[in-house]
Amino acid sequence: MRVLITAGPTREPIDPVRFISNHSSGKMGYALAKSAVAMGHDVILVSGPVTLSPPEQAELVRVQTAAEMTDAVLSRYDNADIIIMAAAVADYRPKDHLSQKLKKSDGDLTLVLERTTDILAELGTRKRADQCLVGFAAETENLRENAQGKLTRKNLDWIVANRVGQADRGFAADTNAATVISRRGDVIDLPLTRKTDLAREILKIIMSVAP
Ligand code: PMT
Repeated sequence: MRVLITAGPTREPIDPVRFISNHSSGKMGYALAKSAVAMGHDVILVSGPVTLSPPEQAELVRVQTAAEMTDAVLSRYDNADIIIMAAAVADYRPKDHLSQKLKKSDGDLTLVLERTTDILAELGTRKRADQCLVGFAAETENLRENAQGKLTRKNLDWIVANRVGQADRGFAADTNAATVISRRGDVIDLPLTRKTDLAREILKIIMSVAP
């Protein structure tokens, strides 16, 4: 199988020295890439800025911004059998990217943000019957309900719902727990474990159970 995986955060520049980003470390996406390589699949890893080492056998595509991630994923989508979007892509970016460092003044500062492309939703509109599209849902509340909404709205085959905002799971932690939900309504709870083990379980499920 040709497996396309995204990982890590994006960085949306404000000026040459500042950006908007999030706490994603890339650990979940890189664990998925390593497991997929170990299972013998051809892996393309599209990664935001992280400090992790990618699996040697994977093709690594480094990006910074949501726009770069959009281009990198869309241009490789047609050749992929399975697509897993574990990256934490920015939903908004500064409308103006200043070419010089923003000078501080005494008053408040208002930044105007504009929407980025929802890559996963775009992939959902282009999905072929022979492709398997897997999204992640990072939630602080109503985990299952919110994830189910994303699964339907974005035309996914599977969604991996995980809680964020707790030290032992989600962003940056070495461990994570998830609820994997299929298009036809299967719900599989995966308890807290190391991200490497969770990644293997997620791949086993999406490759062996029809969505
Ligand atoms: O990297 P780690 O530190 O290991 O943390 C792992 C993780 C918490 C980042 C990961 O497990 C995770 O939940 N990734 C998805 C984070 C996220 O952006 O979730 P969301 O619910 O906001 O987005 C839903 C889905 O849409 C995701 O698959 C996301 O990749 C995708 N998306 C979001 C915005 C956007 N503009 N384009 C997208 O494709």
